[in-house]
Amino acid sequence: MSAFAGKTVFVTGAGVGIGFGLCRAFAEAGAVVALNDVNEGLAQTAAAKLNDSLPTSTVTPYAFDVAEVTAVQNAITHFAQQHGRLDIVIANAGITQYGKFLEYTAVDFDRVMGVNLRGSYFTAQAAARQMIEQGTVDGRILLISSVTGVRAFKSLGTYGVSKAGIIHMARVLALELGEYGITVNAICPGAIVTERTVTDDPDYAAKWGGVTPDGRAGEVDDIVAAALFLASPAARHITGQTIQVDGGWSLRSPIPDDHPD
Ligand SMILES: NC(=O)c1ccc[n+]([C@@H]2O[C@H](COP(=O)([O-])OP(=O)(O)OC[C@H]3O[C@@H](n4cnc5c(N)ncnc54)[C@H](O)[C@@H]3O)[C@@H](O)[C@H]2O)c1
Repeated sequence: MSAFAGKTVFVTGAGVGIGFGLCRAFAEAGAVVALNDVNEGLAQTAAAKLNDSLPTSTVTPYAFDVAEVTAVQNAITHFAQQHGRLDIVIANAGITQYGKFLEYTAVDFDRVMGVNLRGSYFTAQAAARQMIEQGTVDGRILLISSVTGVRAFKSLGTYGVSKAGIIHMARVLALELGEYGITVNAICPGAIVTERTVTDDPDYAAKWGGVTPDGRAGEVDDIVAAALFLASPAARHITGQTIQVDGGWSLRSPIPDDHPD
C-alpha cells in the first residue's frame, strides 16, 4: 500500500504505544516519517526498528520534549527542510498524572498542561507556519485527545481538562487555518492496550473490555485507522471535529470496579 507515498509526516511521543503505531502505519503507506520522543534512546531504537522492517529507511528520530516550544519549532523546521515540505503532523505526545483534586500540586498541573496542551498547541503552530510558508493546499493536523476529555474521571481531572482543551483546540485552529488549506481534527481514544496501560495493569484489556459495548478494549490499530482516514484526501472537508474511537464506551461511561479513585 502506498496511499501516502511522497507525503511527510511528523508524529510526537512516538517511541512506543499509539505514536509508534502511527509512525509504522504511515511509513508502511509510503510516507517519510519523523518520529519524536522525549527519550532519545527510545526515539533512536524505535526509528531503527521501523527502518529495519521497511524497504528503505524513511523514519528519522527526533529527540525533544514537546513542552519545549523552541525545540518543537526547530525539529519541525529541520524535518521540512530535509524533505522539502511538511504534509501531516500528529500531536500525539501526552502524559497521564493521576491525583486527587484536593491534593494536586501546581508542579504536576503545569507539567500535564505543558506536555498535553502547550505541546499540542505549539506543535500545531509550528506545523501550520511551515505548511503556510510552503503553500500547502491539503495540510493535515491531528490532535490526540481522550475520552477523559468528554467524560469526568476521578483522579484524572487535570489530564481530563487538558484533553477537553484539545477538543476545543481542534475547533479554534480549524477556524483559523481553513483559509490556508489546512484541516485540524482530534481523535479521542478510549481505553487502548499499549505497553504503558498493560504495564500499569496486566488485566487492563479484560477489565475495559468488560465495560465497553463492543466487548473489547481498543487496540493501537483502531486509532491508526481513524488517523489514516483523517489524514487522507477523502477527509478534505472534515475539520474542527473530534472522532471518539472507544467501542461505544463513552455512550454510558461505566468504570471498572477497581479503577483508582
Ligand atoms: N493509551 C491509552 O489508553 C490512551 C487513551 C486515551 C488517550 N491517549 C492519548 O494518546 C496519546 C498516546 O498515548 P500512549 O498511551 O500511546 O502514550 P505513552 O504513555 O505510551 O507514551 C508514548 C511516548 O511518549 C513519550 N513522551 C512522553 N512525554 C513526552 C514529551 N514531553 N515529549 C515527547 N515525547 C514524550 C514517552 O517517552 C513515550 O515513549 C497520549 O496523548 C495519550 O494521552 C492514550
